[in-house]
Amino acid sequence: MQIEQIELAHRPCGMPTLTNFRFETKVLPELQRNQVHLKGMYYSVDPYMRMRMNEGKSYIPPFEVNQSLNGGVVAKVIASQHPEFYEGDEVVGMLPWATECIVPGAGLQKIDTQYVSASSFLGILGMPGLTAYFGLLDICKPKSGETLFISGAAGAVGLVVAQIAKIKGCRVIGLAGSDDKVNMLKNEFGFDDAINYKTASNLNASITEMCPNGVDMYFDNVGGSISDAVISCINSHARIAVCGQISLYNETSLGEGPRFLPLILSKSALIKGFIIIDYAERFPEGIAQLSEWVGQGLLKSKETIVDGFDQLPNALLGLFSGKNTGKMIVKA
Ligand SMILES: NC(=O)c1ccc[n+]([C@@H]2O[C@H](COP(=O)([O-])OP(=O)(O)OC[C@H]3O[C@@H](n4cnc5c(N)ncnc54)[C@H](OP(=O)(O)O)[C@@H]3O)[C@@H](O)[C@H]2O)c1
Repeated sequence: MQIEQIELAHRPCGMPTLTNFRFETKVLPELQRNQVHLKGMYYSVDPYMRMRMNEGKSYIPPFEVNQSLNGGVVAKVIASQHPEFYEGDEVVGMLPWATECIVPGAGLQKIDTQYVSASSFLGILGMPGLTAYFGLLDICKPKSGETLFISGAAGAVGLVVAQIAKIKGCRVIGLAGSDDKVNMLKNEFGFDDAINYKTASNLNASITEMCPNGVDMYFDNVGGSISDAVISCINSHARIAVCGQISLYNETSLGEGPRFLPLILSKSALIKGFIIIDYAERFPEGIAQLSEWVGQGLLKSKETIVDGFDQLPNALLGLFSGKNTGKMIVKA
């Protein structure tokens, strides 16, 4: 049986283009014992995939040239030789960018879509939701009345961070790349204020104005000059969770930024990077709490769904020009 898969044609230098990807037709092998035959339903595109397009060691192996890309996928079981999976089951796992695939059942997780959409398992109840939950609660440790600043606020992680911070009684200020996104943050997601970083003439002045009591916590999804501006406004004993640095992922050299460690010292501040996999043992706790909040209507999901397997490369590239609000997902 023939399937389509998307391979890394060659590694990008700077911003990738569609030429970095190649569509290939392949023939599926026979289904073997303990394997399942899956048909992809929803594919996650995530900023970390850009780093996997580079060569070299990181916390996750790079994509191989001339091999299929892979990532979080929700799929339907078409046939199974695995005792725990049956035809019709829906599962989530790290799977190839292929229309169909045959993979070992081990490592797949069955999902229950009775009360939530299947795509939620790539967003609010998946890796981005868990990233928001542990990054905010474990590193920022929010207290009621404190001010939290979020960069990349209108994205998959940012919107969940904001809603959890609101549950904890915080004042929440966010930064996003368009007026529509700023309006959505304030009108749909309860942000106390928000800034369009693309049109702000003086980011430091805007942050100071919107955070009259300073910044107690900074959830950083973006890095670069935006983080330089936010960090210059921190209070004593501020906590900074370094979740992502998307503004730098396509840079070929990092340049020189301000030296902010003296400020971290004088403010007795905490700055901590984290990778969500650090919290793998606590995922059941995170999923249980996120599911409860979703069930109670305290957390809502926002997704940008792009139609068509062939749109996967476009959707991934779209993350770097802000084409998404909430979680970017491709529906096959
Ligand atoms: N540490 C971890 O384990 C972990 C896990 C998941 C995600 N992350 C990181 O968390 C961040 C957010 O991830 P996500 O999945 O929620 O992505 P996302 O925010 O849904 O999508 C990326 C967003 O980043 C913004 N952006 C793109 N280029 C930018 C730039 N040069 N400057 C400022 N903003 C830019 C765009 O929004 P605008 O329109 O607002 O520009 C875009 O919509 C990423 O940095 C990602 O790598 C880390």
